[in-house]
Amino acid sequence: MWSPILLLAVLCDVKAALFYDSYQGVPIDVSEVKRRDKSNTTFWCVNEIQPCDPLEGRRVDGSCNNLKYPSRGASHTPFTRILPPIYDKDFEPKKAASGNELPLPRSLRTRLISVGKVPGQRYTQLAIHAFTFLSADVVSLHDTVNYILWRPYCCTPKGKTDSVCVPNKIPEDDPVHRFSGIRCLNMTRPESFQSIGCLPKDTTPERIVSSTPLLDLSTIYGNFMKNLQEKGRTFQGGLLRYEVEEGRIWPPSTKTKANICLLNQPNEKRCHDMPEDGGNTLAAINLMAVWFWRNHNFIAGELAKVNPCWDDQKLFDTARDINIALFLQINYYELLPIFLGYDNLVQDGVITPSGGFRDIYNENVQPQLSLEYPFALRWLHTVQEGSLKMYDQEGNYLKQFPIVNLTLRTGYLAVDNNIDYITQGSFRQGSANIDYIADPDITEQGLGPHQRVSDVMTNDMAKNRYFGFQPYVKYREACFGKPVRSFNDLYYFIDPERVEVLREMYEKVEDIDLLAGIWVERPISGGFVPSTFYCLVIDQLRRNVVSDRHWYERPNRPNAFTIYQLAEIRNYTIARLLCDVGDTVTRIQPRAFLKAGIYNQIDSCFNIPSIQYLAWKDLTCDQPPYWFHSQ
Ligand SMILES: *[C@@H]1O[C@H](CO)[C@@H](O)[C@H](O)[C@H]1NC(C)=O
Ligand SMILES: *[C@@H]1O[C@H](CO)[C@@H](O)[C@H](O)[C@H]1NC(C)=O
Ligand SMILES: *[C@@H]1O[C@H](CO)[C@@H](O)[C@H](O)[C@H]1NC(C)=O
Ligand SMILES: *[C@@H]1O[C@H](CO)[C@@H](O)[C@H](O)[C@H]1NC(C)=O
Repeated sequence: MWSPILLLAVLCDVKAALFYDSYQGVPIDVSEVKRRDKSNTTFWCVNEIQPCDPLEGRRVDGSCNNLKYPSRGASHTPFTRILPPIYDKDFEPKKAASGNELPLPRSLRTRLISVGKVPGQRYTQLAIHAFTFLSADVVSLHDTVNYILWRPYCCTPKGKTDSVCVPNKIPEDDPVHRFSGIRCLNMTRPESFQSIGCLPKDTTPERIVSSTPLLDLSTIYGNFMKNLQEKGRTFQGGLLRYEVEEGRIWPPSTKTKANICLLNQPNEKRCHDMPEDGGNTLAAINLMAVWFWRNHNFIAGELAKVNPCWDDQKLFDTARDINIALFLQINYYELLPIFLGYDNLVQDGVITPSGGFRDIYNENVQPQLSLEYPFALRWLHTVQEGSLKMYDQEGNYLKQFPIVNLTLRTGYLAVDNNIDYITQGSFRQGSANIDYIADPDITEQGLGPHQRVSDVMTNDMAKNRYFGFQPYVKYREACFGKPVRSFNDLYYFIDPERVEVLREMYEKVEDIDLLAGIWVERPISGGFVPSTFYCLVIDQLRRNVVSDRHWYERPNRPNAFTIYQLAEIRNYTIARLLCDVGDTVTRIQPRAFLKAGIYNQIDSCFNIPSIQYLAWKDLTCDQPPYWFHSQ
């Protein structure tokens, strides 16, 4: 209910913040907020939102994106689902149709996915870095921190007494661990509105994460205005804070002792102090975050040259808006098409082939993520190459390092010229092949030295069940219309040798886990990804465009680009980003997500299209400023 005071405030148009229930998305009154304060759940369960202004640009905290539902789009708001969840009693993972237990996640992983290193010849590591960074925008890592730091005991007897611990069993006949004797992989239940205390425990678990659901460079600008103002901005020239060390530009480094870069070695000091800690997590995210951080300042500098009369705020806002647009452009028009198929994406309305503006905004679709989307992206773990290869500027191979050992170890980038060599390597080294084979580091050492053993893909499979996803065949039917009634029906989209393993592992076709099906499917025609992966991912890619009022291709959003500005944005590539802000990059192939080759030759940065910032020229700057004569 609305309190009389709040109602009065609204009626009188007093610009006071409003409180919303983070799950329900409805306004709540002050007494409800007080109740939340008492139980210390305000941070997660309440969104405090300044009144919306329809002419305001994209907010850092994601609020007011949808003017009808102001809190949607902010952090700590719920996911939507493509299919409703299904659980056993007490919201435990569902069993097989017969009532028996489903096969162990680790058994499925070892039977369905082989382990080895097969260098791919199509994509570069850069493509996988970009995918990792794309998912980092909309997820949070607290589930992993939970079992590494907060509940380090899930595989010990104490773990049996904590219902949050749900470790994964390693069977006796495991191909690797029959020798090691290790029988347990740490894991905790995913955090939910229930576990965090916003909703009663006896209701269907609803996942909660800390990032904002839309693609808005959360890794760079954070999820809260306060953090951006305090940690991010210089308040001069529209710039983000930065430091220069040995001629390289870095985000500012933390001054606090409680350092998230736990694995920095004694000679490695650097750890970013950014509005969110995401920029210090996985190596791929660290690297991309450094680039997009620098890119903001690069853009602000170019804008300042063109528009000397712009003040800090105008430069900052415009640079941020362009930086986000370039990030979206690279993802939608360069990265995703080479995996999902350009024609497929055009046909399914994810991208437009015609250039110019595009407006498919619908305010009835709320800015939300489907729970299936970030989950499906986990399939990419099979394409992750474990070794980060480093090269010099001429393309000579120098050395390699296990990428999993760089988690929470930002400092490695800043010693021994490593960031130069890793940057060069990112567009020279191939990703792992798209096949049914995963890198041994991903399947045994996924969290590097943070855990004795960690099989990222077993964890993915176990999460499949804790998220309560319906069986694979239900998704197959929802995506493609045709029911799947028997194992024989699977031959249409899964190779016979893999159907045979599925028959061995599962009693009935309707028992197959969603992820198990995605792991073994053949690629979609015209693309290189499993067909159900494609379906679940494009559903969200389209929703992003439809539900984001500030989507960069729209002509009538607040501060929209002109058609000339948009044409400049559309010319942008990941190669240009590296030419502008990548260390030692003076030559690169034009399509840098793909390996260099005869049709994609490494070329001088002079020949890689760049953005003409003159398109942002503000003619009013040419007027002599009012103080001109008095100076
Ligand atoms: C209250 O919640 C915050 C955020 O979840 C947490 O950091 C803090 O430790 C909690 N305080 C108490 C007294 O439980
Ligand atoms: C990576 O970490 C593992 C422990 O998880 C360790 O055994 C190995 O030596 C490390 N590799 C390097 C090159 O530091
Ligand atoms: C479980 O987590 C703890 C704490 O992070 C860690 O010390 C231990 O090695 C982990 N167990 C395994 C099997 O990885
Ligand atoms: C895009 O790049 C090409 C190649 O450099 C250039 O010819 C063209 O003018 C650019 N388009 C815009 C709108 O800047």
